[in-house]
Amino acid sequence: MLSTPAVSVSLHARLREATSHAHQQLESLLGLLDSPMSYTRFVAVLMRFHGFHRVWEPALERTLGDAAFTGPRRRLTLIEHDLRALDIDDLDIEALPIVPEAAQLCRTLDGALGSLYVMEGSTLGGRVITRRLLEDADWCPEEGLLYFHPYGDLTGERWRQTLALLDLVPVERHEAVVEGALETFALLLQWLEPAVVASHPRDDDTPSEWGVAL
Ligand code: HEM
Repeated sequence: MLSTPAVSVSLHARLREATSHAHQQLESLLGLLDSPMSYTRFVAVLMRFHGFHRVWEPALERTLGDAAFTGPRRRLTLIEHDLRALDIDDLDIEALPIVPEAAQLCRTLDGALGSLYVMEGSTLGGRVITRRLLEDADWCPEEGLLYFHPYGDLTGERWRQTLALLDLVPVERHEAVVEGALETFALLLQWLEPAVVASHPRDDDTPSEWGVAL
Protein backbone atom coordinates (compact mmCIF):
# COMPACT_ATOMS: atom_id res chain seq x y z
CA MET A 1 0.00 0.00 0.00
CA LEU A 2 1.21 3.47 -0.85
CA SER A 3 1.81 5.72 2.11
CA THR A 4 0.70 9.34 1.96
CA PRO A 5 3.76 11.57 1.58
CA ALA A 6 4.32 13.88 4.56
CA VAL A 7 3.41 17.42 3.66
CA SER A 8 6.17 19.71 4.78
CA VAL A 9 4.91 23.03 6.05
CA SER A 10 7.45 25.85 6.03
CA LEU A 11 8.47 27.30 9.37
CA HIS A 12 7.18 30.66 8.21
CA ALA A 13 3.74 29.21 7.47
CA ARG A 14 3.68 27.53 10.90
CA LEU A 15 4.70 30.74 12.63
CA ARG A 16 2.08 32.79 10.85
CA GLU A 17 -0.68 30.33 11.60
CA ALA A 18 0.32 29.75 15.24
CA THR A 19 0.63 33.45 16.07
CA SER A 20 -2.27 34.89 14.08
CA HIS A 21 -4.59 34.98 17.11
CA ALA A 22 -1.97 36.66 19.31
CA HIS A 23 -1.24 39.14 16.53
CA GLN A 24 -4.90 40.04 16.33
CA GLN A 25 -5.08 40.48 20.10
CA LEU A 26 -2.06 42.76 20.11
CA GLU A 27 -3.30 44.74 17.15
CA SER A 28 -6.64 45.36 18.79
CA LEU A 29 -5.08 46.09 22.20
CA LEU A 30 -2.80 48.76 20.73
CA GLY A 31 -5.46 50.26 18.47
CA LEU A 32 -2.78 52.02 16.46
CA LEU A 33 -5.15 52.49 13.55
CA ASP A 34 -7.82 54.19 15.68
CA SER A 35 -8.88 57.47 14.26
CA PRO A 36 -7.86 59.95 15.47
CA MET A 37 -4.87 58.28 17.15
CA SER A 38 -4.30 59.61 20.63
CA TYR A 39 -0.92 61.24 21.26
CA THR A 40 -0.95 60.03 24.86
CA ARG A 41 -1.65 56.45 23.84
CA PHE A 42 1.01 56.45 21.14
CA VAL A 43 3.69 57.86 23.44
CA ALA A 44 2.77 55.37 26.18
CA VAL A 45 3.09 52.48 23.71
CA LEU A 46 6.46 53.72 22.44
CA MET A 47 7.71 54.02 26.02
CA ARG A 48 6.80 50.39 26.70
CA PHE A 49 8.51 49.25 23.49
CA HIS A 50 11.58 51.15 24.70
CA GLY A 51 11.64 49.06 27.89
CA PHE A 52 11.35 45.91 25.78
CA HIS A 53 14.03 46.71 23.18
CA ARG A 54 16.50 47.90 25.79
CA VAL A 55 16.68 44.38 27.21
CA TRP A 56 15.76 42.30 24.19
CA GLU A 57 18.21 43.71 21.60
CA PRO A 58 21.43 42.92 23.51
CA ALA A 59 20.04 39.49 24.45
CA LEU A 60 19.23 38.76 20.79
CA GLU A 61 22.67 39.91 19.69
CA ARG A 62 24.40 37.69 22.26
CA THR A 63 22.41 34.63 21.24
CA LEU A 64 22.46 35.04 17.46
CA GLY A 65 26.13 36.11 17.49
CA ASP A 66 25.81 37.70 14.05
CA ALA A 67 26.40 41.44 14.31
CA ALA A 68 26.10 41.91 10.54
CA PHE A 69 22.51 40.65 10.78
CA THR A 70 21.40 42.23 14.06
CA GLY A 71 23.26 45.57 13.76
CA PRO A 72 21.04 47.09 11.06
CA ARG A 73 17.97 45.79 12.92
CA ARG A 74 18.59 47.73 16.15
CA ARG A 75 15.61 49.94 16.86
CA LEU A 76 16.19 51.32 20.37
CA THR A 77 17.72 54.55 19.08
CA LEU A 78 14.80 54.94 16.68
CA ILE A 79 12.35 54.81 19.59
CA GLU A 80 14.43 57.40 21.39
CA HIS A 81 14.40 59.59 18.28
CA ASP A 82 10.61 59.30 18.09
CA LEU A 83 10.09 60.06 21.78
CA ARG A 84 12.25 63.19 21.49
CA ALA A 85 10.37 64.23 18.35
CA LEU A 86 7.20 63.88 20.45
CA ASP A 87 8.59 66.22 23.14
CA ILE A 88 9.72 63.67 25.72
CA ASP A 89 13.00 64.78 27.25
CA ASP A 90 16.15 62.70 27.67
CA LEU A 91 15.89 62.41 31.45
CA ASP A 92 12.41 60.92 31.18
CA ILE A 93 13.58 58.53 28.46
CA GLU A 94 16.55 57.40 30.56
CA ALA A 95 14.22 56.70 33.50
CA LEU A 96 11.78 54.49 31.57
CA PRO A 97 11.15 51.06 33.11
CA ILE A 98 12.50 47.92 31.45
CA VAL A 99 11.07 44.43 31.14
CA PRO A 100 13.80 42.03 32.36
CA GLU A 101 11.84 38.98 31.13
CA ALA A 102 12.61 40.05 27.53
CA ALA A 103 16.12 38.60 27.95
CA GLN A 104 14.62 35.18 28.69
CA LEU A 105 13.04 35.12 25.23
CA CYS A 106 16.53 34.80 23.78
CA ARG A 107 17.93 32.24 26.22
CA THR A 108 18.09 29.65 23.42
CA LEU A 109 18.82 30.08 19.72
CA ASP A 110 15.40 28.74 18.72
CA GLY A 111 13.60 31.02 21.17
CA ALA A 112 15.59 33.96 19.83
CA LEU A 113 14.63 33.09 16.25
CA GLY A 114 10.94 32.95 17.16
CA SER A 115 11.27 36.29 18.88
CA LEU A 116 13.10 37.74 15.88
CA TYR A 117 10.20 36.66 13.65
CA VAL A 118 7.75 38.63 15.81
CA MET A 119 9.78 41.81 16.07
CA GLU A 120 10.81 41.87 12.41
CA GLY A 121 7.22 41.12 11.38
CA SER A 122 6.11 44.23 13.22
CA THR A 123 7.89 46.30 10.55
CA LEU A 124 5.38 45.01 7.97
CA GLY A 125 2.28 46.32 9.74
CA GLY A 126 4.40 49.34 10.67
CA ARG A 127 4.12 50.61 7.11
CA VAL A 128 0.34 50.89 7.51
CA ILE A 129 0.62 52.48 10.96
CA THR A 130 3.09 55.09 9.75
CA ARG A 131 0.99 56.04 6.74
CA ARG A 132 -2.07 56.40 8.98
CA LEU A 133 -0.23 58.59 11.49
CA LEU A 134 0.95 60.93 8.76
CA GLU A 135 -2.55 61.24 7.33
CA ASP A 136 -4.47 61.41 10.52
CA ALA A 137 -2.51 62.54 13.59
CA ASP A 138 -1.98 66.29 13.71
CA TRP A 139 0.71 65.82 16.38
CA CYS A 140 2.84 63.58 14.14
CA PRO A 141 5.97 65.39 12.87
CA GLU A 142 5.87 66.05 9.11
CA GLU A 143 8.94 63.92 8.47
CA GLY A 144 7.19 60.97 10.12
CA LEU A 145 8.32 58.64 12.90
CA LEU A 146 10.86 55.84 12.66
CA TYR A 147 10.15 52.99 15.07
CA PHE A 148 7.23 51.36 13.27
CA HIS A 149 8.77 51.89 9.84
CA PRO A 150 12.48 51.52 10.53
CA TYR A 151 13.75 50.23 7.19
CA GLY A 152 11.90 52.41 4.68
CA ASP A 153 12.35 51.00 1.18
CA LEU A 154 14.44 48.13 2.57
CA THR A 155 11.46 46.66 4.48
CA GLY A 156 10.77 43.91 1.93
CA GLU A 157 14.42 42.98 1.55
CA ARG A 158 15.05 42.79 5.31
CA TRP A 159 11.94 40.64 5.74
CA ARG A 160 13.12 38.25 3.01
CA GLN A 161 16.49 37.98 4.79
CA THR A 162 14.72 37.09 8.03
CA LEU A 163 12.63 34.44 6.28
CA ALA A 164 15.79 33.05 4.62
CA LEU A 165 17.36 32.67 8.06
CA LEU A 166 14.26 30.86 9.35
CA ASP A 167 14.41 28.57 6.31
CA LEU A 168 17.72 27.21 7.56
CA VAL A 169 16.18 25.83 10.76
CA PRO A 170 15.81 22.03 10.59
CA VAL A 171 12.28 20.72 10.94
CA GLU A 172 12.85 19.06 14.33
CA ARG A 173 13.49 22.52 15.80
CA HIS A 174 10.42 24.24 14.33
CA GLU A 175 8.30 23.66 17.41
CA ALA A 176 10.82 25.44 19.65
CA VAL A 177 10.91 28.45 17.31
CA VAL A 178 7.09 28.64 17.28
CA GLU A 179 7.14 28.47 21.11
CA GLY A 180 9.59 31.38 21.14
CA ALA A 181 7.29 33.46 18.92
CA LEU A 182 4.25 32.69 21.10
CA GLU A 183 6.15 33.57 24.28
CA THR A 184 7.20 36.86 22.69
CA PHE A 185 3.63 37.82 21.79
CA ALA A 186 2.49 36.80 25.30
CA LEU A 187 5.11 38.96 26.99
CA LEU A 188 4.35 41.92 24.72
CA LEU A 189 0.63 41.65 25.44
CA GLN A 190 1.29 41.58 29.17
CA TRP A 191 3.87 44.38 29.09
CA LEU A 192 1.98 46.72 26.77
CA GLU A 193 -1.47 46.38 28.29
CA PRO A 194 -0.98 48.72 31.29
CA ALA A 195 0.20 51.50 28.96
CA VAL A 196 -2.92 51.23 26.87
CA VAL A 197 -5.28 50.94 29.82
CA ALA A 198 -3.70 53.91 31.56
CA SER A 199 -3.95 56.08 28.48
CA HIS A 200 -7.73 55.68 28.79
CA PRO A 201 -8.08 56.58 32.47
CA ARG A 202 -11.43 55.93 34.11
CA ASP A 203 -12.78 58.72 36.31
CA ASP A 204 -11.97 56.83 39.51
CA ASP A 205 -8.38 55.99 38.48
CA THR A 206 -5.35 58.17 38.97
CA PRO A 207 -2.69 56.54 36.81
CA SER A 208 0.46 58.32 35.76
CA GLU A 209 -0.04 60.28 32.56
CA TRP A 210 1.93 57.76 30.50
CA GLY A 211 0.82 54.52 32.11
CA VAL A 212 4.35 53.96 33.36
CA ALA A 213 6.14 54.99 36.51
CA LEU A 214 8.51 57.74 35.41
C1 HEM B 1 -1.99 48.15 15.33
C2 HEM B 1 -0.86 47.50 15.18
C3 HEM B 1 -0.57 46.58 14.02
C4 HEM B 1 -1.13 46.47 12.79
C5 HEM B 1 -2.23 47.31 12.20
C6 HEM B 1 -0.47 45.38 12.11
C7 HEM B 1 -0.74 44.98 10.83
C8 HEM B 1 -0.05 44.03 10.14
C9 HEM B 1 -0.18 43.75 8.71
C10 HEM B 1 -1.12 44.50 7.77
C11 HEM B 1 0.69 42.77 8.41
C12 HEM B 1 0.87 42.10 7.05
C13 HEM B 1 1.80 42.96 6.22
C14 HEM B 1 2.16 42.33 4.89
O1 HEM B 1 1.94 41.12 4.69
O2 HEM B 1 2.71 43.07 4.06
C15 HEM B 1 1.39 42.42 9.62
C16 HEM B 1 2.33 41.46 9.71
C17 HEM B 1 2.94 41.11 10.90
N1 HEM B 1 2.87 41.77 12.10
FE1 HEM B 1 1.61 43.24 12.53
N2 HEM B 1 0.46 44.85 12.93
C18 HEM B 1 0.44 45.57 14.09
C19 HEM B 1 1.24 45.42 15.18
C20 HEM B 1 2.16 44.43 15.29
C21 HEM B 1 3.01 44.26 16.42
C22 HEM B 1 3.06 45.21 17.62
C23 HEM B 1 3.75 43.14 16.19
C24 HEM B 1 4.80 42.51 17.05
C25 HEM B 1 5.57 43.20 17.87
C26 HEM B 1 3.36 42.60 14.91
C27 HEM B 1 3.86 41.48 14.32
C28 HEM B 1 3.63 41.09 13.02
C29 HEM B 1 4.21 39.93 12.39
C30 HEM B 1 5.10 38.89 13.05
C31 HEM B 1 3.81 39.94 11.05
C32 HEM B 1 4.22 38.97 9.97
C33 HEM B 1 3.16 37.94 9.66
C34 HEM B 1 3.65 37.04 8.54
O3 HEM B 1 4.36 36.08 8.85
O4 HEM B 1 3.36 37.34 7.38
N3 HEM B 1 2.39 43.42 14.38
N4 HEM B 1 0.92 43.20 10.65
